[in-house]
Amino acid sequence: QQIMRGDFKTFMQKEIFEQPESVINTMRGRVLPDGRVVLGGIKEYLKDIKRCRRLILVACGTSYNSAIACRQVMEELTELPVVLELASDFLDRETPIFRDDVCFFISQSGETADTLNALRYCKPRGALLIGVTNTVGSSICRESHCGIHINAGPEIGVASTKAYTSQIISVIMFALTVGDDRISLRERRIDIINELGKISNHIQTVLELDDEVKLIAKQVYQEKSLLVMGRGYNFATCLEGALKIKELSYMHCEGIMSGELKHGPLAMVDENLSIVMVICSDHVYKKSLNALQQVLARKGRPIIIADENVPTKDLDGIQHILRVPKTVDCLQNILTVIPLQLLSYHIAELNGLNVDRPRNLAKSVTVE
Ligand code: G6P
Repeated sequence: QQIMRGDFKTFMQKEIFEQPESVINTMRGRVLPDGRVVLGGIKEYLKDIKRCRRLILVACGTSYNSAIACRQVMEELTELPVVLELASDFLDRETPIFRDDVCFFISQSGETADTLNALRYCKPRGALLIGVTNTVGSSICRESHCGIHINAGPEIGVASTKAYTSQIISVIMFALTVGDDRISLRERRIDIINELGKISNHIQTVLELDDEVKLIAKQVYQEKSLLVMGRGYNFATCLEGALKIKELSYMHCEGIMSGELKHGPLAMVDENLSIVMVICSDHVYKKSLNALQQVLARKGRPIIIADENVPTKDLDGIQHILRVPKTVDCLQNILTVIPLQLLSYHIAELNGLNVDRPRNLAKSVTVE
């Protein structure tokens, strides 16, 4: 079946703008009107999962960043230790794996060699293997015990966009399924499920920032370097945003945990360095503002991505503020990453680069 670009210039642009629909497809038939979350693919294994020792998420690239995005809410809702592993490093270390571990292999293609080899390493050790992929019938699908298909639809652009947001939603749905019998988490679950219902509309609103993002891209596209700072739930956004910019525009770009600023990165900050900061009204808000003050004190001129509940007075004197809708903390990073997907797109385009096929990269890396 041939996949068409339609009115879009590139597949990547089409895939970014498809996200209001792709997230709905990810949730279809799973987040039910009565407030239950049902994942058919893992239903039969839930008893074992609830008794496990720990949850281990193994992935590469963007898929790994989606694991970072979900870690905190997964720990909160499952009350289990959650371990994140880059597949290559996991194999290098010959990490101990036990029969009562539950291992997730998150991969858009389901064919990434490092992730697949990690799965093959875990299998004889008796762990339960769960594939989280976008490709039915892929190697990871076939070789895992059970799985969650993210249903984002085919992704053609080498840089992953809609698969990332659907991976986050898939793993959060998993966490909601495992935590469904805990009374103490009831309100929290309802809150997340309600906000999942609104996420598609919120994404649509974020996409309307496209022209504003393009203006910002025009200011920074010739820079040598760009830092993206944030913390808490939005740290994943910083890493994923920086990865998109590196992949597409070949610009040096680093995602920085703003809690680590004073342990090194602050030394780089001056009036010339381009910086994006993600600041949201969540439980790390005060700390995020503190990081902003530190950057401003060194004459930094950051571009801010903030949710609409961040008071304007706290962002006094900032030239560019990209406002995204406010949602529940653990879903906020879905909304904050999209402006950075758009920014990477425009920076690459302004530099005349091939957005769908960046140099030196492949959509699916099937060699180690
Ligand atoms: C390659 C692609 C990335 C992708 C990574 C993992 O490096 O260029 O965009 O995130 O592989 O791919 P997967 O299919 O396992 O999610």
